[in-house]
Amino acid sequence: TRAYLNGQFLPLSQARVPVLDRGFLFGDGVYEVIPAYGGRLFRLDQHLERLENSLRAIRLEPPLTRAQWREILTELLDGAADQAVYLQVTRGVAPKRDHAFPPVVEPTVLAWAFAIGTAAPAPAKAITHEDIRWQWCHIKAITLLANVLLRQEATERGCQEAILIRDGRITEGAASNVFAVVDGVIVTPAKGPHLLPGVTRDLILELARELALPCQERDLDAAELARAEEIWLSSSTRELVPVVELDGEAVGDSRPGPLWRRLYRAFQDYKR
Ligand code: PDD
Repeated sequence: TRAYLNGQFLPLSQARVPVLDRGFLFGDGVYEVIPAYGGRLFRLDQHLERLENSLRAIRLEPPLTRAQWREILTELLDGAADQAVYLQVTRGVAPKRDHAFPPVVEPTVLAWAFAIGTAAPAPAKAITHEDIRWQWCHIKAITLLANVLLRQEATERGCQEAILIRDGRITEGAASNVFAVVDGVIVTPAKGPHLLPGVTRDLILELARELALPCQERDLDAAELARAEEIWLSSSTRELVPVVELDGEAVGDSRPGPLWRRLYRAFQDYKR
């Protein structure tokens, strides 16, 4: 696998970052995961816009222009295989460990591509869990300790995702956005500081509106989720995954639902 690190292409296994990098010491950085289908970066502008928003939120200047990002990321892709590019920008290497920003510092820019699945997603099981993360979840920060612990908890309970609840309301998954079909209406939490504005989420809403399916961006409470007819998870690497079991209870009839099927199909058509 070829990587890009600070202006150079090199094998990922040989890419090295100094231990005083603030990403390593503080998790002081942001990232993106951008899918590419048939060698074409998917919704690149939306991802780069979110990257710029994340950078602004942590007070870093964008190190590259959109044209430069496009060129580098395209260069990392391996032919026409379905892949995703991971990219991260940290505040860079500081002379010493100090929480406050160093007066002068060059950001560290790292990216590489990896394969993503091409088959339809397997139906998933999920747990619910209190959202133990911080209050600025709209920033795609590399500081993912809470997300890691939550996903691990789900894994150890034989599930693929943890769906998070803050003050009785669903926010999102540990690494995905959440949709529920409640009384025939597709519901997803409205954007705000407590969830990542998912690029896949936005596309699913776009497609649902094109299909004239009823959908709402609004608070979704835990009790509604528990009685939802369908639950889905969206992300750049997993597209749209139907959840058939929540906290050990069947969702609907324990099979991917009819609205999931329509949107998944619409998504596949849109991709190609
Ligand atoms: N995660 N919410 C969280 C907390 C996420 O980490 C992600 C994606 C999403 C979905 O966003 P998008 O549709 O733009 O990928 C929502 C990526 C894939 C990851 O961390 O690997």
